[in-house]
Amino acid sequence: MYSEKVMDHFQNPRNMGEIEDASGIGTVGNAKCGDIMRIFLDIDGNGIIREAKFKTFGCGAAVATSSMATELVKGKTVEEALQVTNRAVMEALDGLPPVKVHCSLLAEEAIHAALWDYAQKNGIVIKGLEKPKADIHEGEEEEAW
Ligand code: FES
Repeated sequence: MYSEKVMDHFQNPRNMGEIEDASGIGTVGNAKCGDIMRIFLDIDGNGIIREAKFKTFGCGAAVATSSMATELVKGKTVEEALQVTNRAVMEALDGLPPVKVHCSLLAEEAIHAALWDYAQKNGIVIKGLEKPKADIHEGEEEEAW
């Protein structure tokens, strides 16, 4: 049911923890399953993500997607990090079962929320970044996942 990569990132999560004085912190939750994900980003003066960490109170797939998402954004510019969509995270994990797709959406939303926090704190605009929703299911109730 789960790929080897998902199992690996679930059993040996990368980047678990928090960053003190993070440049940006994003916390998102899913009202249906109750899972919560928080992502911390350390961004240098050139807009490059030096470090990314996560704390996730959620299912195994949420842990695996947090782990992979933090791996994927490290070393990227904030603009490049926007390309780390839930689809990119799923592909990097060799897929997720359909009922777990929303877990990867949580990872995308948490990264966007952390980037938004960083942009707000520094008074900058990141092209293509929109204000994150507080809950990924706001306005998405009818969508199947
Ligand atoms: Fe909700 Fe995985 S079941 S994030």
